[in-house]
Amino acid sequence: MNNLPAWLADAVFYEIYPQSFQDSNGDGIGDINGMIARLDYIKELGCNAVWVNPWYDSPFGDAGYDVRDYKKIAPRYGTNEDAKRFFDEAHRRGMHVLIDLVPGHTAIDHEWFKTSMRADKNEYSDRYIWTNSIWEGGGEYATLRGISDRDGCAVVNFFSHQPALNYGYAHPDRPWKISSDSPAALSTREAMKDVMRFWLDLGADGFRVDMAASLIKEDDIGHPANIRLWQDFRTFLEKEYPQCAMVSEWGVPKESIAGGFHMDFMLHFGPPAYKSLFRSEYPFFSKEGKGDIFAFLDTYSADLAATERKGLICIPSGNHDMSRLACGRDMRDLKICFAFLLTMPGAPFLYYGDEIGMRWLEGLTSVEGGYDRTGSRSPMQWEKRTGFGFTSSAKPYIPFDKSADAPTVEEQAKDENSLLNAVKTLLAVRKTHKALQSFGEFKPLYAEKGKYPFVYGRMAEGERIVVALNPADKAVEVPFLLNGKILWNVGEAPKGNKMAPCSAAVILK
Ligand code: NOJ
Repeated sequence: MNNLPAWLADAVFYEIYPQSFQDSNGDGIGDINGMIARLDYIKELGCNAVWVNPWYDSPFGDAGYDVRDYKKIAPRYGTNEDAKRFFDEAHRRGMHVLIDLVPGHTAIDHEWFKTSMRADKNEYSDRYIWTNSIWEGGGEYATLRGISDRDGCAVVNFFSHQPALNYGYAHPDRPWKISSDSPAALSTREAMKDVMRFWLDLGADGFRVDMAASLIKEDDIGHPANIRLWQDFRTFLEKEYPQCAMVSEWGVPKESIAGGFHMDFMLHFGPPAYKSLFRSEYPFFSKEGKGDIFAFLDTYSADLAATERKGLICIPSGNHDMSRLACGRDMRDLKICFAFLLTMPGAPFLYYGDEIGMRWLEGLTSVEGGYDRTGSRSPMQWEKRTGFGFTSSAKPYIPFDKSADAPTVEEQAKDENSLLNAVKTLLAVRKTHKALQSFGEFKPLYAEKGKYPFVYGRMAEGERIVVALNPADKAVEVPFLLNGKILWNVGEAPKGNKMAPCSAAVILK
């Protein structure tokens, strides 16, 4: 059983993409001192936890998801002492910090891989997956070939420069595929536990785990071997770090939570439920009103029933891998999206800049392996001036939003009708109402195939809150009264059983 750390009951996360958040030394790249300087902002927004994307030493061929040294902060971000200070400063403010753990692969210039490439048999020969000969490929997995003295191809995990760490195969059917409980595969696990110990000892409160479902290769449907692997990590954590919080990039909560994770993300890949909300051809959250809430609800309700009280399903506003929430939406549309995101069960995750409606920037040249994701990774827009308050450098590492009306924190803080203030208010409402927090009960009250609005109840300790969302640009009605005390709304408030076009309300019954 996963003992859920108590603070997850009302946790709200803010995702910091370190290179794009706040530059403190004028090199055009964000850093840890910058992150520390902005902790008060995150707290005042109403978030009490952060997820920091990889900050390890790296050649940055995949924005840091190509780790060169798991135990060293990338010099461009600062030092390990700065990381320690970041943890301390967050804790001093009552906040928690999850850092990214990338257990599936390293950079090619990680010492383990360099040693593993050698022709002689050594401690790291089996740390990665090598075929027996340069002429034998990796089956369904791509390989790195011809870069080593060693005779063999190394299986890669994501980009071609990210060799897969060896946790073994579910069904080894070639001599070079080792079983997941062989000594070499177990030693990879132990090496990763050692990395986890290092950061937990320094002050991290937990991890967001990259590509968590794919460590053991050629697993069966439902990932049973990877679930067992993570159960082993759970046993380790329960014993040594019972307070460590774990969230997976998995996307199938009934699997990941069975594996011992506390939280799982709904994601833009895998089951279409998350995409159907914001990023499909006809998303539910769109003025067009052509979405179908059941594309979300069918999967979500089943996942919720399978994981209730054991773990949290987290619906992020976005992340560094997908287009920005603001794509195709105006500020009112975004407020309706946030009314949903911040009143659902599980812990919300806000991607930096989404709270002001930062845009996906089209046509940027890829930076650090971002490709089309680069447009969602542009520097945070703090103030309307050269450098946007992000950097004093004339050349940020990713170009800024050049539009004249590029949103900024400074302007929105002054405007009581801004998206930023709507997010703040919604988070304040969530904070004062247990029904809206992670474990409050969730019950759809009006959800009809292909129709609008979507209305649901949230309940806890005798308190009942109704959330009514009509993203469509047309008036709609429900077969019951939407009355009660309005805690927050956008657009015209509901009248009787009617909702105005593009409106949303959070109502205390
Ligand atoms: C998922 C991460 O979120 C993404 O940014 C990265 O490129 C891949 N995993 C590979 O680590």
